[in-house]
Amino acid sequence: MPQRLPPPRVASPLKSVNARPRSGASGSWIPSSSGPPPRRYTDPIGLCWPRHEDKLQPPPIFSPRHVRTRATLAPDGPLRQSRRMDESELTAEVTAARAAAVEWSRRVEAEYRSAALTSHLAHWLLEAGLSHDLVRLALEITSDELSHAELSTEVVRAAHLITSGDPSVASLQVDRASLSYIREWEPLELDLTAACLETFCLGETVAVPLFRRLREHTTVISARTALDRILADEVKHRDFGWLLFESLLSGREGALCRDFAAAVLPSMVERLAASYGGLSDEVALPPGHRAWGLMPGREYALALGDATRREYRPRLIALGFPSQALVGLDALESLVSSR
Ligand SMILES: [Fe+2]
Ligand SMILES: [Fe+2]
Repeated sequence: MPQRLPPPRVASPLKSVNARPRSGASGSWIPSSSGPPPRRYTDPIGLCWPRHEDKLQPPPIFSPRHVRTRATLAPDGPLRQSRRMDESELTAEVTAARAAAVEWSRRVEAEYRSAALTSHLAHWLLEAGLSHDLVRLALEITSDELSHAELSTEVVRAAHLITSGDPSVASLQVDRASLSYIREWEPLELDLTAACLETFCLGETVAVPLFRRLREHTTVISARTALDRILADEVKHRDFGWLLFESLLSGREGALCRDFAAAVLPSMVERLAASYGGLSDEVALPPGHRAWGLMPGREYALALGDATRREYRPRLIALGFPSQALVGLDALESLVSSR
C-alpha cells in the first residue's frame, strides 16, 4: 500500500516575516535568490509570544506581598506533602504550576532554537573567514543555549510534578524551518549583519533586563537555578553581539554593512515594538506565578523601553548611526514613559 505523506508543516506566521529589499534603501546589496519570499525568524530570544492562551483564569487583584509570602513556600514537589494547604491555596498553586509548565515549555523551545541559530551563525562566521575568537564564542554560546534548554526542562518537570504528580516531559517538537537562518543577501556579510543585529544586538541585549526582572521574585528552586545561569550568560551573549557587529562594520564589507544595517534597523525595531507593545495590557499575574519566574506582559514592555534608553540608543549613536536609522527607537522608549 502506498504510504500517505503527512501534510506539509506550516510555520507560524507570528514567527516569520518577509524581509525584502526596502525601496529607496541606500546601498547596493541584492537578494541572494529570486525564489519564494524568504522567511526570517523574528523572535530572537523567544520571550515574546502571544500570552493570551496562558490566561487560565482572569487575574485577581495582584498583591506583590502576598506573592512573596507564598513564594517562600513554593517547593519543587507535590504540594500536599509539603504542608497542609486549604483548597483555595492548593488551587492557586496548581494554577501557577500549570501556567509555569506552559511558559517554561515555550522557553525550552526558544532556548533550543537559539542554540541551533547560533551554531548556524558560527558556520557563517567560518564561511566569511571572520576571527577564530568570534567563532569560538559563537560555539560557546551554542553550548550555553543548550544548557538553558536543559535547565528550563527541569522547571517543566517540577511544574508537572505539582500539577499531575508525574514529572515526565514530552519530547520537544520544534518547527525545523525555524532552526536555521536563511541566505537572503549578497555578500554573506549582509546576512551576518542582519542576524547579528536582530538576534544579538537587539534580542540578547533586551534579554538581560528581562531576565533580571524575571529572576527578581523567583523562588521556586528549579526556576531560580535556571534564571541564575541564564541571566549570567545573557550578558556574555549581548557583548558577543555588539563585538561581532563592530567587527562587521570595520571589516572588508564594512561600508556596505553599515548602510544595510541603517536601512533594515527601523523595520527590526518596528517588529520589536509590535511584539512587546501588545503585551502592555497585562499588568498583573495571579498569586504564585512570579515565584516560577513569570511576569506580566507590561513588565516585558518596560524592560524593552529600558533597554532602548540605556543600551540600544547610546550604543548605536556611539557606532555612528544617523538619526534616520534610529527613528523607531522613540516608540520603544515610550513604552516606559507611558507607564
Ligand atoms: Fe538562552
Ligand atoms: Fe542567549
